[in-house]
Parts: sequence; C-alpha cells; structure tokens
Amino acid sequence: MSTENKSGWIITALAGLRDWTNDRLPIVAAWERHMSKYYAPKNFNFWYFFGVLSLVVLVMQLLTGIWLTMNYTDSAEAAFASVEYIMRDVEWGWLLRYMHSTGASAFFIVVYLHMFRGLMYGSYKKPRELVWVFGMAIYLVLVMEGFMGYVLPWGQMSYWGPT
Ligand code: HEM
Repeated sequence: MSTENKSGWIITALAGLRDWTNDRLPIVAAWERHMSKYYAPKNFNFWYFFGVLSLVVLVMQLLTGIWLTMNYTDSAEAAFASVEYIMRDVEWGWLLRYMHSTGASAFFIVVYLHMFRGLMYGSYKKPRELVWVFGMAIYLVLVMEGFMGYVLPWGQMSYWGPT
C-alpha cells in the first residue's frame, strides 16, 4: 500500500468530521462571511494594523496583569517588596513584569498611531462620529489605568508621580 493510501482514511475521516460539525455549527460559512470573503476596501494599508495591534496589547496586558496580581501585595508597606519578590524569586516573574510595563508603553505608542490614522483619514467624520467618541473614552480610561499601574509598585517614582 502506498503512503498516500495509508493516510487517505485519516483525511476522509477529518473531512467527514468537518462536514458533520459544519452541518450543525456552520463555522466555514461564518468564517467566510466575516473573514476570508468579507468585503473590505482595497486601499487598507499599514496604518490599519494598529487597531488590531491595540487589541493584541490589551489582551497581553490583561493576561500579564492577572498573573502579576497573583504575587503582588496591595498595601503601602508591602507593595514594593512584593514587586522585588516578583522580580527576583517568582519563576519568570521578571518577564511577566517587563512584558506588563513595556506593554503599557507599547499600548500608548500603538493607540497614538491608531488615532493618528483616524485623524489622517478623517475616520472621525460621519457616519463614524460615535466610533471616535467611544475611542476617546477608551483613551481616557487607558490614561487613568496607566497612571494607576504606575503607582502600584509604590517606589520613588510611584510616590512622587501623584505627589
Ligand atoms: C483599546 C483600544 C482600541 C482598540 C482595541 C481599537 C480597535 C480598533 C479596531 C480593531 C479597528 C478596525 C481596524 C482599524 O481601523 O485599525 C478600529 C477602528 C477605529 N478606531 Fe479604534 N481601537 C482602540 C482605540 C481607539 C481610540 C483611542 C480611537 C480614537 C480616539 C479609536 C478610533 C477608531 C476609529 C475612528 C475607527 C474607525 C476607522 C475607520 O473605519 O476608518 N480607536 N479600532
């Protein structure tokens, strides 16, 4: 029997499973409708990456933030020491923290480029006024969250920032 024939049944079984699932949960149609055959202007360019990149950074901040919380202590006396503990003793803690702090800066770079695209191409105009207004609300929340994160380690910079 050739190698092709030997693996042939696997391919048939997988195709069968795909069709069985697809008859009940039309994943292929949904993928085509929203992704692979979604009608989009041909003039999308580099500047349109930054919306999706903001989403990527947001998810990264949420995940690394939740993991940092597992070893962080939220008191004025213990916060700084708990961050030192994360940096020195927690396995991969330094990486989580650097991903989170660098990620915060990356978030702003990416969001500013995203807003710049909006300004450059007039994306704030009719009929997208509300998209822009919601965007500005998101931006305000981002600034506030960034500030709160900056304060959390309660070191010199955290202390003198709000002071
Ligand atoms: C967490 C922050 C944000 C995320 C995850 C996000 C995500 C996205 C995504 C995925 C798109 C579609 C693709 C693209 O055009 O890049 C988009 C479009 C848009 N975003 Fe954002 N965005 C964020 C913040 C903002 C901010 C701060 C503003 C402005 C103040 C803004 C204004 C807009 C506008 C006007 C569009 C429509 C562009 C058009 O259709 O021409 N967004 N956003």
